[in-house]
Amino acid sequence: MRIQEKVIVITGGASGLGLSTARYMIEEKGAKVAIFDVNEEAGQRAAAELGERAMFVRTDVTSDESVRQAVSSVTARFDAVHACISCAAILGPSKVLDKEGRATPLARFAQMAMVNLVGVFNVMSQCAEQMAKNEPEAGEERGVVINVSSGAAYEGQVGQCAYASTKAGVIGLNMPAARELGVRGIRVNAIAPGLFLTPMASQLDSKVLETLKAQTEAPNRLGDPREFAHCCAFIIENAYLNGETIRLDAASRLRGR
Ligand SMILES: NC(=O)c1ccc[n+]([C@@H]2O[C@H](COP(=O)([O-])OP(=O)(O)OC[C@H]3O[C@@H](n4cnc5c(N)ncnc54)[C@H](O)[C@@H]3O)[C@@H](O)[C@H]2O)c1
Repeated sequence: MRIQEKVIVITGGASGLGLSTARYMIEEKGAKVAIFDVNEEAGQRAAAELGERAMFVRTDVTSDESVRQAVSSVTARFDAVHACISCAAILGPSKVLDKEGRATPLARFAQMAMVNLVGVFNVMSQCAEQMAKNEPEAGEERGVVINVSSGAAYEGQVGQCAYASTKAGVIGLNMPAARELGVRGIRVNAIAPGLFLTPMASQLDSKVLETLKAQTEAPNRLGDPREFAHCCAFIIENAYLNGETIRLDAASRLRGR
């Protein structure tokens, strides 16, 4: 799908990979971008900086009502939704047992599952409803969904039970969604990033961050958020790419700890 003049919803677009992708899609590709994020202040700031081709709607991806209202604001302003990129997620430690060997309370796991997996499904589903109304481009494409997983989905570390399993869930969504939505001209793919320098990565303890940096292969550095944005553009533009998860990680593989 050509990106020029298309409308792209980016969740988590107020920060990190989502913000960088919003900027790239507007400045390099001539798209219109709707940022969906719970962070009102950062979202407003991002939209103001990106100018008239951007809009921000305070959205909680875990709520179907919030996403429904956000999608209608996008169609009211930009008339359509052609692509959605689900970057919204939360990170945090979660183990099976605590230090004393007691079972972990469910609340943290459940919250991460709501944002990182249920939220991704919610946004995909409500954006796909709109995409299905588009005139097909080149007779075949009405929309493109990009869901964001993580290298942790494959090699989750100790303490990543919730994060890694929710990210694996995102990969699991790919194939059934791509097969179902294909008849409507909508493709579904995922990206599993390695370590990129964003506010989420900065939350990690500096020692952990150094260890992770040391585990990057070639090139031996953290990812640049523009490289993530470029991968999103490639997925949107390549009409034959469907049901796939792209590992964007410089061949890095997380160790156990
Ligand atoms: N940065 C990395 O190294 C890395 C590595 C692997 C995967 N990822 C994945 O890439 C994506 C983007 O990560 P990032 O580093 O840019 O993160 P980030 O923390 O910079 O941005 C995440 C955004 O999501 C928003 N958000 C959180 N909960 C929300 C909710 N309920 N509804 C709407 N918005 C919500 C936050 O406000 C924030 O703006 C995430 O899915 C993350 O898991 C990142």
